Amino acid sequence: MEVLEVKPLENKRLNVLIMEKEYNEPFWMTEQTAPLNSLQPLFKPSIGFFKFLENVTAKVTLDFATEELGMRTRKDFFEDNILAELFQKNNIPFFAVDIDGNAKTYLATALDEKIELRNNIVKTLDTLSKRKEKDESMEKEYLIAYGQNLQFEIEEKEREAKFPVRESWIVMGILDYAQEIKGKEEINCLHICSPQHCAGIKQSLESLNVKVEIGKLSKKVIAATAEVPSSHELENYLQSMQIQVKPVMRKATDNAPYLLFYFDTDVKASPFDICMAYDVGYDAVIPYENVTPEEAKLLTQDALFSRGPKGMKHTAFLIGGKNAERAEAVSKAVKNSMFPPFKTNIIIDPAGAYTTAAAMVAKAESALLSSKLGELKDKTCAILGTGSVGKIAAVLLAKIGCKVVIASLNPKRIDGKEHAKNIAELLAKDHGVQVEGIYAPTPASKIEILKKADVVICAGIRGIRLIDKEILDEAKHIKVLLDINAVPPFGIEGIELKDDMKEMMPGIFAIGALTIGNLKHKLEKEILREARRHGKAVYNYNIALPMARKLLQKQLFPKDALTLNYSP
Ligand SMILES: NC(=O)c1ccc[n+]([C@@H]2O[C@H](COP(=O)([O-])OP(=O)(O)OC[C@H]3O[C@@H](n4cnc5c(N)ncnc54)[C@H](OP(=O)(O)O)[C@@H]3O)[C@@H](O)[C@H]2O)c1
Repeated sequence: MEVLEVKPLENKRLNVLIMEKEYNEPFWMTEQTAPLNSLQPLFKPSIGFFKFLENVTAKVTLDFATEELGMRTRKDFFEDNILAELFQKNNIPFFAVDIDGNAKTYLATALDEKIELRNNIVKTLDTLSKRKEKDESMEKEYLIAYGQNLQFEIEEKEREAKFPVRESWIVMGILDYAQEIKGKEEINCLHICSPQHCAGIKQSLESLNVKVEIGKLSKKVIAATAEVPSSHELENYLQSMQIQVKPVMRKATDNAPYLLFYFDTDVKASPFDICMAYDVGYDAVIPYENVTPEEAKLLTQDALFSRGPKGMKHTAFLIGGKNAERAEAVSKAVKNSMFPPFKTNIIIDPAGAYTTAAAMVAKAESALLSSKLGELKDKTCAILGTGSVGKIAAVLLAKIGCKVVIASLNPKRIDGKEHAKNIAELLAKDHGVQVEGIYAPTPASKIEILKKADVVICAGIRGIRLIDKEILDEAKHIKVLLDINAVPPFGIEGIELKDDMKEMMPGIFAIGALTIGNLKHKLEKEILREARRHGKAVYNYNIALPMARKLLQKQLFPKDALTLNYSP
């Protein structure tokens, strides 16, 4: 039995022109999944296709040609196939490539067993439904569930055999025949392919360093003369018509890779966002470091112009960096460098601050509601920490209507009061919100803030405790405490990473860093995924918050498995 082993060619370059057929070559795994025989006459190349290939073989130097065998015998493939005649006439070696017969039988046998079992279930269900009495519901329910499951497995196994497995055999066939051609460094192959396999075979060949182009025919029936046919006889119509065939090469942009240009204002681009982008399926993430607004403009236009208007739907930009103000300036420069038709999606998430802040606010909102503690918009919120996360959490909370205090608790600051005031002014100027900025480095000043707050968000630097138990004892008014610092000691004493509305003190509920972090993680992925779809949006905190809310709604589904036993 032949073994499936796909290896790149050694010391040779292979170019494959994949010619898309006009139909999918019939192929089925078992007799039970065979399509109707009456469709068989449709599976022949048309005169147009034949003529076109005749033209190709006359003009292109081909070393060999291949076609998938499908359900044909090798005898039929070579003797009852006008394409075989054509290649023979032009002295071009022509081969059938497809899954090995033994391998197919092996896969089909496993499938047959499942199909037989499914058919038995269908028969039993038929018998049950013919019975007069209607009391067999339990048995019927279990049979239906089992049958559905089998059907799903059959379809899945068949799809796997028909696509990735069969395509790998076809690719192996092409490479094997290319390997046999001696004395040439560059080899040209024409592969005639079912439409449904073109993309898979192209991808597989390209992963083995083969240069691939896909072409298909456009066929048009045109009038041969200006005269209208003299009668309505079919013969007259046929004589007055011409079929025009023209090759259409599939454009590179249709399969162009998804590129994410990542502009980081920091000295080193963060691996966090790079990994996330690859995980959601970008083909390449291109990081640039220390990016300034001036550089961003040039980089953006170079990226956009090289891809052309059609490449826009496969291009997106991500702006990051610890300093939110700098990232905003770069984002603005990127946006201003775009003009129709060179416009595409931009994501701004400075060091993850926008998605983290949005996740915290959405979580606080839903936690209050589900615990019947009222609506977040009516609450007084205290944010501890004036970094990017704290600032954007303050903006989002103020925008939904909360009374917001943002506090710097850093005892090392000598300009504390002025710094807190500046932060409030900056948020008013850049984001149009009114919040109060307070400097609170001492236990007494911290208690002062917490006493008035319903919701406290701790967005302090990682690994530093800001609120200890004694301070909390004085602040009984708080309803919900959130802490985003995931590095011990956490920002608030007593809070734990996975807390999700745990009552850590009477009437005070805690949400830990991992609970928020999980939502943030999902949110960033969702935004990256959305930005892969073509659009012209700027994904900022305003878009992140409703998306986080949506994700929380989806999380309402329980994830635990249930086991049901059949009891006759
Ligand atoms: N889970 C996630 O996905 C995720 C994502 C992003 C961030 N985070 C976490 O969110 C938190 C906030 O991050 P960030 O980027 O906004 O800010 P950050 O740079 O980590 O620092 C936050 C603030 O901490 C204050 N600070 C610095 N040293 C201090 C000290 N010795 N004592 C008290 N305060 C001090 C500073 O406030 P002043 O300005 O007042 O000096 C600073 O603005 C961090 O814990 C970070 O790890 C988590």
